Amino acid sequence: MVRKSIGFNSFVGAGFHARPQTKSDGTIPLIYSIKMQEFKAVYMEKTSNSPEETEKIAFQVGKTLKAGDIVCLDGELGAGKTAFTKGLAKALDVKDYITSPTFTIVNEYIGKLPMYHFDVYRIGDPEDMYEIGFEEYIFGDGVSIIEWSEKIMEILPQERINIFIRKDISKGENYREIVVKGGGY
Ligand SMILES: Nc1ncnc2c1ncn2[C@@H]1O[C@H](COP(=O)(O)OP(=O)(O)O)[C@@H](O)[C@H]1O
Ligand SMILES: [Mg+2]
Repeated sequence: MVRKSIGFNSFVGAGFHARPQTKSDGTIPLIYSIKMQEFKAVYMEKTSNSPEETEKIAFQVGKTLKAGDIVCLDGELGAGKTAFTKGLAKALDVKDYITSPTFTIVNEYIGKLPMYHFDVYRIGDPEDMYEIGFEEYIFGDGVSIIEWSEKIMEILPQERINIFIRKDISKGENYREIVVKGGGY
């Protein structure tokens, strides 16, 4: 498979060189996805300079979500994983205020779909996830959002959307790089 990485705020297709289609207003769709047989690949890189901007990026990702999707969020403490989740929640029409489930492991919300918000930072052994009914959540009819997913990588299905948020203090305190990978990436 050809993988090509180009600069931020640009889009890359998998498997063949595909160009994002420009919309009638001259802009490029935020998420450029290509369907190859049953296989949907998404790759996106964005920069953000405020929590609000991060939420907006998340909102646009959230609009593409459907029942059963698993969104994995990784990045250091304070990167903006919970901020990103707020944008996803808005897109899913969740009206409640989103709080971090650091101590509860999972918070459940109802929007146009059920939304399960995990923070697995405190999980020692990935197997412990089964005790809280992890499989019922991730194979259920809702959208699962998992902060610190790298801690339970070995029990996650292959089919998921991975989001990495990275700070770069040299570019400012509020600067973040956000990479979204799904499908074949
Ligand atoms: N561009 C940005 N995107 C997201 N959060 C930002 C940004 N700039 C500053 N912040 C701040 O960083 C913190 C992110 O916190 P949070 O979302 O709880 O992180 P995490 O869940 O990754 O630990 C918040 O205090 C937020 O105001
Ligand atoms: Mg958090």
